[in-house]
Amino acid sequence: MDLTVDLFGTSFRNPVLLAAGTCGFGEELAAVAELDRLGGLVTKSVTLEPRAGNPAPRVAEFGAGMVNSVGLANPGASAVRRERLPWMRDHLEGLQVFVSVAGHTPEEFFEVVEILEDGPGFLGFELNLSCPNDARRGGLPFALDPEELARVVEGARDRTARPLLVKLAPNTPAWSPVVRAAEESGADGLTLVNTMPGLVLDPFSRGPLLGAGAGGMSGPALRAVGVHAVWSAARLTELPLVGVGGIARGSDAAQYLLAGASLVQIGTASFWDPRAAERVVKELGEFVAGQGVARVTELVGGARMPGSGEDGVRRKPDQNPKLEG
Ligand code: SIN
Repeated sequence: MDLTVDLFGTSFRNPVLLAAGTCGFGEELAAVAELDRLGGLVTKSVTLEPRAGNPAPRVAEFGAGMVNSVGLANPGASAVRRERLPWMRDHLEGLQVFVSVAGHTPEEFFEVVEILEDGPGFLGFELNLSCPNDARRGGLPFALDPEELARVVEGARDRTARPLLVKLAPNTPAWSPVVRAAEESGADGLTLVNTMPGLVLDPFSRGPLLGAGAGGMSGPALRAVGVHAVWSAARLTELPLVGVGGIARGSDAAQYLLAGASLVQIGTASFWDPRAAERVVKELGEFVAGQGVARVTELVGGARMPGSGEDGVRRKPDQNPKLEG
């Protein structure tokens, strides 16, 4: 049984990565988890200038998941280039690492990519265009504005030859415009989805649980949204998809693969158990073996949806008009 995934001109040990914002630059989990059992990780989002982040509490649990408003706390691109990338090169061998990039303006994204581009220790970039806690000044997150999204992706594409993932938002009103904008402006893959805007109030104090007020919701409640987003995008594009949202078990990861994801990311589950991603790898292996297939990649796009045919093969809308929408 083979869990490897060949993608972006390289090989992932398995399809399970840690999601952005859940493992720092790897060092936060290296002491407590066996990272070399994973396929890779995505770093905390890197901005041009250092950011101190939002007031505490920055994360809070509720019955169906978690809300966070960290505020993209990070040391800034120059410190990451100087200190974190060499650490990743020396300690994360064998893991495929994506550096997450964030900014208020397209130019901030471009500068971060320029500063990091020739650095060691990572495979590619994930453009965080969908942070619900840091909408670009005076507007929507880039991921909800196809024209602005295309501007960022195009400019980043001009500045890097590395694989470029674009992270989209769960509250996207229609998938086609953003998926096409990302594809046409040079994305190599799409990550679906970021956290969902959310607010949890303490009814007694009448205040929010988070220091910043509202935040991004993640955990089990996000899973069905994420799987649906991957399934929707898979019918619109041949780009590789990376599924994230509410994965805590191997069977959760399998849902994303069946919907059309080639890779998955584990986020909130790692806050509850730093070894959750390792467990997902093990359980996914058992699931694959139980399905009687030789390679995990055979699951990708295999959901048996009404209208998709017995084979479950994914079809683009123009090949199956019934699936449009
Ligand atoms: C944060 O740092 O506030 C969360 C980042 C994100 O969800 O993109």
